[in-house]
Amino acid sequence: MARLDAACTVDRYAGEGSMPRDEMIARLPGKLAMVSMVTDTVDAGVVSAGTDLRLIANVAVGYNNVDVAAAKARGIVVTNTPDVLTDATADLTLALILAVTRRLGEGERMVRRGAWKGWAFDQLLGMQLRGRQLGIVGYGRIGKAVGVRAEAFGMTVAHVSRPGSGARDSGLDRLLSTSDIVSLHVPLTPDTRHLIGQTELARMKRSAYLVNTTRGPVVDEAALAWALRQRLIAGAALDVYEKEPEVHPDLMSLENVVLAPHLGSATTETRTAMADLAASNVIAVLSGQPPLTPVT
Ligand code: GLV
Repeated sequence: MARLDAACTVDRYAGEGSMPRDEMIARLPGKLAMVSMVTDTVDAGVVSAGTDLRLIANVAVGYNNVDVAAAKARGIVVTNTPDVLTDATADLTLALILAVTRRLGEGERMVRRGAWKGWAFDQLLGMQLRGRQLGIVGYGRIGKAVGVRAEAFGMTVAHVSRPGSGARDSGLDRLLSTSDIVSLHVPLTPDTRHLIGQTELARMKRSAYLVNTTRGPVVDEAALAWALRQRLIAGAALDVYEKEPEVHPDLMSLENVVLAPHLGSATTETRTAMADLAASNVIAVLSGQPPLTPVT
């Protein structure tokens, strides 16, 4: 904010959560740049209200919340915040993998409700990572960073790069049926919406875990709840949901599911770097320079 305040006049939303759509539309005319968060839906209607807009600086690596085509059609640049959040998101993915395979949430709930009766030889036995296969769906910056971490834990890594592009993907099918943990790192696009549904979950090993740190709609949440109830997979760890902050009620009551509140990039260092990068994009474009991290 200090960098933006020094460079331009800022109209800041001071309310709770995200700015209501009507207010966004009312406040956009006359603005040259917009800084948006993942929770702001910048659809074609909002974009067209930005009659003077030159830039939409989304403070996230994912930009499914912005209608990029509508922006481009009006000559508006869209930027995101790649790279600076790769480590934080990969770290959180490993935290979720460890939490679900070592039953950390279950154990913590037991301690907190006073149900822990003391150490027991066969208590809350989980799955060890060494020698297991991690299947990475979406082998971009974050997927690769997760792979490096997984190898340090002694896991083998399998990956598919661009699944979900129409016809059934044999690479994805093989990865799903052979992996002990499947971790999702594809962006949300029309091709990856519900990439993981009943068919895909049924392909996974009964002993396998699903981890999602990308976008909720990549997984059909109702199908996931069904697969967990049917014991088609062993568990799931989620950081993102189809209709945040709502969580499918069945997932809430299952012990073998770890539920995090969209924390992928939530470290002080990373959020500072994301904010700084978004500010740099605004300052660059408003001063006639090319953006640092345009969405292409
Ligand atoms: C957060 O969800 C991001 O895409 O950066």
